[in-house]
Amino acid sequence: MVQANGFPEGFLWGGATAANQIEGACQVEGKGMSVADVQRLKPEVNVEDYKRNNTVTRADIEEALKAEEETLYAKRRGIDFYHHYKEDIALFAEMGFKVYRMSIAWSRIFPNGDEETPNEAGLKFYDQVFAQLKRYGIEPLVTMSHYEQPLNLTLKYGGWGNRQLIKLFTRFVEAICIRYNHVKYWITFNEIDSLFRHPFSSGGILEDEYQPERLKKELYQAMHNQFVASAAATEICRRLIPGAKVGCMLTKLTFYPFTCKPEDVLKYYLDNRKNFSFADVQVFGEYPEFMKIQMEKEGITLQKGPEDDKIMRENPVDFVAFSYYQSSCSAANPTELEKTAGNTHRGIKNPYLPKTAWGWQIDPTGLRISLIELYDRYGLPLFVAENGLGAEDVLGPDGKIHDEYRINYLREHIKAMHQAISEDGVDLMGYTSWGCIDLVSASTNQMSKRYGYIYVDADDYGHGSLKRYRKDSFYWYQKVIRTNGASALEEE
Ligand code: BG6
Repeated sequence: MVQANGFPEGFLWGGATAANQIEGACQVEGKGMSVADVQRLKPEVNVEDYKRNNTVTRADIEEALKAEEETLYAKRRGIDFYHHYKEDIALFAEMGFKVYRMSIAWSRIFPNGDEETPNEAGLKFYDQVFAQLKRYGIEPLVTMSHYEQPLNLTLKYGGWGNRQLIKLFTRFVEAICIRYNHVKYWITFNEIDSLFRHPFSSGGILEDEYQPERLKKELYQAMHNQFVASAAATEICRRLIPGAKVGCMLTKLTFYPFTCKPEDVLKYYLDNRKNFSFADVQVFGEYPEFMKIQMEKEGITLQKGPEDDKIMRENPVDFVAFSYYQSSCSAANPTELEKTAGNTHRGIKNPYLPKTAWGWQIDPTGLRISLIELYDRYGLPLFVAENGLGAEDVLGPDGKIHDEYRINYLREHIKAMHQAISEDGVDLMGYTSWGCIDLVSASTNQMSKRYGYIYVDADDYGHGSLKRYRKDSFYWYQKVIRTNGASALEEE
């Protein structure tokens, strides 16, 4: 039931993180190196150049593996959740979280990705995390793959373009579904569409080792392999955990036509459709016709196994999760137009929208539009798995952090979700705002880009006490959850 002054009963309020951005303990108790552990902070981060931030070469990996000085490899440290999980989950519970979106680091369970049996110490770590969540009645929502596959799968197999990864991934999925058969909510791949935008963190692919035409083929093949792996994971999860709900996840790149010129409107449709196509495959169980035409035009012939189509067809997802941070515009002729910044995508700037210090456009209405679009297209329950404001926070001498800018951002997005539910009839399961505790930025490897309700005393280079502090937004979100959204809706 939707309440006029609140969210539906049972709405899953919470926060989201990913293992590689928080755990640290990168080589502890058998954990292997992952693609995240070789990504380096590039000083003087250029927010306009996400390619520079995200591209990793073989030389970068070699340098990373030799590095004695780990200062620049912030994801190896994270916020040391590995040793602070009890305290951190207690803080989530204090805010009243109903759900916590987290991921399981593949390289903690299968350090090289291709072992026959899982690493017991790695499995034990998540036993403890789940036990702590259970203690507080927090439901886990687990992402199976969140930009953190074992590095060996790049070095030995070349990444997701290699079909062997399907088998290795499903082995990992089977191990975690057997062990954690009490977990009800799962997401297979984080932002599966991002493979084309950052092939290394999403697919373990070293893009500069391919000629452009060859790279295109590799990426399409990796995309197909991930689709098959995702469908197979869905099947395994449902078979091993009766009642489990498995979702796909999309980076929702909400577009607007830059003008009402028909050419711009057409471009907007095409951009939108391209973004949707990644969820289309996982919801409808097959490639949409326009994608097949596109592949044919580009000379792509997917290498398919005899069972691939069947696996994809028979295992559609139960819900559609997505991240939403910003919108951008589409134009037939973008050359002269100013662009936005972003972590994986640079769209055309919308002159009506403000932006964050990292150049991301702020658009709560775009979240409402996204919810309507996705619900009208799929008719499945939706989950806002990521949303939030990356900002530089100041820790005052009194130990307080006054982050009213974050509260403003979140409040407007929460209002937009409520309108989508109560006025537009969208079925929304829950909301896990991104980086509920400060963590290392996926794209820039900075600590100074903070999303959390909880401040972590650490800088970009690993200095700091790691002490946790409650920001103003912590108490604000606590009240939002306690009133099931009503307190946010009442605010001006
Ligand atoms: C999403 C990713 O795209 O954006 C997260 O799933 C990431 O892993 C988040 O952290 C915010 O991006 P960034 O680059 O600010 O960390």
